[in-house]
Amino acid sequence: MSASAPAKINLHLGVGPVRADGFHPLATVYQAIGLLDEVTVRHAPANDVTVTGQRRLDLDEIPLDARNAAVRAAMLLAERNGVEEQVAIHIDKQIPVAGGMAGGSADAAAALVACDALWGLSSPREELLELAAELGSDVPFALVGGTAIATGRGESVVPAMVLGEYWWVVVESADGLSTPAVYHEFDTVYAGQRVSQPDLPDALMEALRSHDLERLGVLLRNDLEEPAIRLRPELDDVLAGGIAAGALGALLSGSGPTCVFLCSSRTHAEQVSTVLSEGEPGAVCVVRGPVPGARVERMG
Ligand code: C5P
Repeated sequence: MSASAPAKINLHLGVGPVRADGFHPLATVYQAIGLLDEVTVRHAPANDVTVTGQRRLDLDEIPLDARNAAVRAAMLLAERNGVEEQVAIHIDKQIPVAGGMAGGSADAAAALVACDALWGLSSPREELLELAAELGSDVPFALVGGTAIATGRGESVVPAMVLGEYWWVVVESADGLSTPAVYHEFDTVYAGQRVSQPDLPDALMEALRSHDLERLGVLLRNDLEEPAIRLRPELDDVLAGGIAAGALGALLSGSGPTCVFLCSSRTHAEQVSTVLSEGEPGAVCVVRGPVPGARVERMG
């Protein structure tokens, strides 16, 4: 049984003061984009996980034991449903590893729907969303896909009405960034200051509803950009390079280091991508959003 799940970007990532549980309250607008991981699950005598990927990916960083996001998802679903079968999991990755695009969360979401189908559970959507929230802040959105507003630590997801399609140039980094390290740097940047609770961005939602790309370009915002740039100063040059190449807006994806650039059309995105590829061979691609969330692709 195979399922796919998409990468995400955050068109707006408003971050509030760290909570007692160590997480930060968020007000965020997710969009699922056309970079997909595919997870295949099979009945097996013992639990096992393998990973492949054609893009420039640091596959060595992906754990192949019970820390793997897809394995954790399969184990949680099995435990909650009294399933005692073992499963062999294969992950074919397109989503950058430790790139701020929720690749691990996509694997968890794909594993949930693939195992649900393999074991014939037909779990209600609400149940899968609850398990997803236990697995990680971005996993519920990887199930929902499209464009959505999220609050809490990212796990309370409400689909948003948006018009049309959006073309993005994605620039990967050779080395990943640790999400906890970037949030910790956020705390350091704002130490001793009053950080307000994050607000949902009304103007950005209006730009999405009316497909006003110029306006959307200037309204893109990520509160983790400053801390990520403090940890990786060259990201500032990557972001500036995209604007110089003619993009309508530049954005760090989540906790980074992947950067994304909004373009007015596929053709425009291909032009910007060509310019950016000159400095970054092999690490630049053009993708469309929004795309659907995790879904079963193949049976048998
Ligand atoms: O939920 P997830 O496992 O993706 O979170 C990874 C880490 O990112 C957390 O342990 C925490 O350090 C940080 N995080 C946070 N606030 C959030 C989401 C994640 O501080 N809303």
